[in-house]
Amino acid sequence: MSNRRRLAILGASGHGKVVADIAIQSGWQDLTFYDDAWPRKTRHEHWEVRGTLPMLLHDLPGFDGVIVAIGHNGIREAKLGALLAHGARVVTLVHPRATISPLARLGPGCVVVAGAVINAFAELGEGCIVNTCASVGHDCRLGACVHVAPGANVAGDVEIGRTSWIGAGAAVRQGMTIGEGVMVGAGAAVVANVGDRQVVGGVPARPLSSSPADAADASNVLRLNLPSPQGRS
Ligand SMILES: CC(C)(COP(=O)(O)OP(=O)(O)OC[C@H]1O[C@@H](n2cnc3c(N)ncnc32)[C@H](O)[C@@H]1OP(=O)(O)O)[C@@H](O)C(=O)NCCC(=O)NCCS
Repeated sequence: MSNRRRLAILGASGHGKVVADIAIQSGWQDLTFYDDAWPRKTRHEHWEVRGTLPMLLHDLPGFDGVIVAIGHNGIREAKLGALLAHGARVVTLVHPRATISPLARLGPGCVVVAGAVINAFAELGEGCIVNTCASVGHDCRLGACVHVAPGANVAGDVEIGRTSWIGAGAAVRQGMTIGEGVMVGAGAAVVANVGDRQVVGGVPARPLSSSPADAADASNVLRLNLPSPQGRS
């Protein structure tokens, strides 16, 4: 456990509290939050909020690991990308009571919450969240920063594009393809393929609105203003 001492968590949110809990339960000792709400926000429950993302990039050598705890998939993807570009030691956190097949593969920066199950030969890209009691079936392929919300069940051999969100309690039939930046509503049953940036819901799932989901387009609302990776000392 000696390499699990100091963890930086980017995102002092409700999800950040869950991530902190998983970190403690999996052996991390000293937790420090960073959030762009600093200096307005300097505490998150009993943890310190020490600064913004640029300050975290400066402080990286002081940490044994870093994780992004931001629920918005597109923003999580952008900030995770900045950290990886700066050589951060981005870790994956798995709750001790989650079940992950040793034959599954998870990219850096994933968070797997209590009760989740990830089955054999599933492949998850960087920054995915598999939330409370959700499941990801065998041979699934999840792109970067997909979120499978609490209680959602993704059956085997499903492909899900980057930054898509499978809502709480949704079910996805085996073999389906879900595009990028999709929002699947809570409780939906996905029984047909879903194209990029669709918002779908209901049983069976149908498009809910003509306005596309914004999950994949966080670059429109982000102004990261970060030092270049090459410029860091
Ligand atoms: C699907 C979703 C993204 C739509 O959000 P939204 O764009 O704000 O939609 P609105 O609340 O304005 O509702 C628009 C219409 O869709 C319907 N609708 C919303 N969510 C729905 C759902 N999950 N299933 C079926 N219909 C839904 C509404 O009843 C409304 O219908 P109406 O126009 O006939 O009144 C959202 O409702 C949802 O289900 N999010 C997932 C939440 C979740 O899983 N959270 C987990 C956090 S870890």
